[in-house]
Amino acid sequence: MNGDVAALFDLRGRTALVTGASSGIGAAVADALEGAGATVLRAGRNRDRLGPNGISVDLASGTDAARELAAQADERVGEHAVGILVNCAGTNPRPPLDDIDDKLYHDILAVNLDAAFTLGQVYGPRMAERGWGRIINVASTQAHRAFGNSGVYGIAKAGIAGLTRSQSEAWAPRGVCVNSLTPGLVVTPMTAAVLADEARSAYFRARAHTRTLGEPRDFAAVAVFLAGEGSRFVTGQNLCVDGGLSVT
Ligand SMILES: NC(=O)c1ccc[n+]([C@@H]2O[C@H](COP(=O)([O-])OP(=O)(O)OC[C@H]3O[C@@H](n4cnc5c(N)ncnc54)[C@H](OP(=O)(O)O)[C@@H]3O)[C@@H](O)[C@H]2O)c1
Repeated sequence: MNGDVAALFDLRGRTALVTGASSGIGAAVADALEGAGATVLRAGRNRDRLGPNGISVDLASGTDAARELAAQADERVGEHAVGILVNCAGTNPRPPLDDIDDKLYHDILAVNLDAAFTLGQVYGPRMAERGWGRIINVASTQAHRAFGNSGVYGIAKAGIAGLTRSQSEAWAPRGVCVNSLTPGLVVTPMTAAVLADEARSAYFRARAHTRTLGEPRDFAAVAVFLAGEGSRFVTGQNLCVDGGLSVT
């Protein structure tokens, strides 16, 4: 590859914090950023899947947990190191809306939306002060449409769409590009229950223009692009990585 072009995707010297990095899409994104040269801090709950250097945190326990995660990350790499933040942690229990009580409501919002807000509040201003940064928030088709007991998950993901625009408006003038990714139906532990239903799985495969379901590795290249120099004029956007599902 021509050196000028390669530089657009070169993350050497950058440090990334990726939540949801213990599984699925977040793990693939963390691997990709590392493959492009970044130092990657991986956060999730499951210590075994995070590996020895991961940071274990339960983001359902509120914004203090997100602040504690940031404190641990800072301890490892220094307060001014993180220049790429990927908010990928997500949870989607699917009880019917009638059955959701206040506690479950707050737990789901805490993981899917509040953690992204709080980590943004920690790192966005620091990135802006340094004049360079990238934030990637993982959204969902449920930001825009209902999909099988969307419940609080849909509320949170709609919030992610708004958060992305607000963060972009606030920090892009100082070099921080903020975008969201909307996965289609991707084969991960989160979708195991949905995909166990053969008819449903076949329906979504047929609806996608690619006639396939997504895999975590489908997020590698797009994450490197959005985390790198090449995306410096791309901000406030939502990019659907969904095999065309959103336009059928
Ligand atoms: N798969 C899809 O089809 C699809 C579609 C649309 C959007 N998404 C979004 O894509 C993102 C990744 O999902 P995935 O499909 O890759 O699912 P996944 O394999 O189940 O991964 C979810 C990740 O979030 C972390 N997480 C969940 N609850 C947490 C908590 N309380 N505290 C800290 N971390 C927590 C998990 O950590 P532990 O496993 O260590 O607990 C795991 O790393 C999510 O934001 C999801 O909403 C996925």
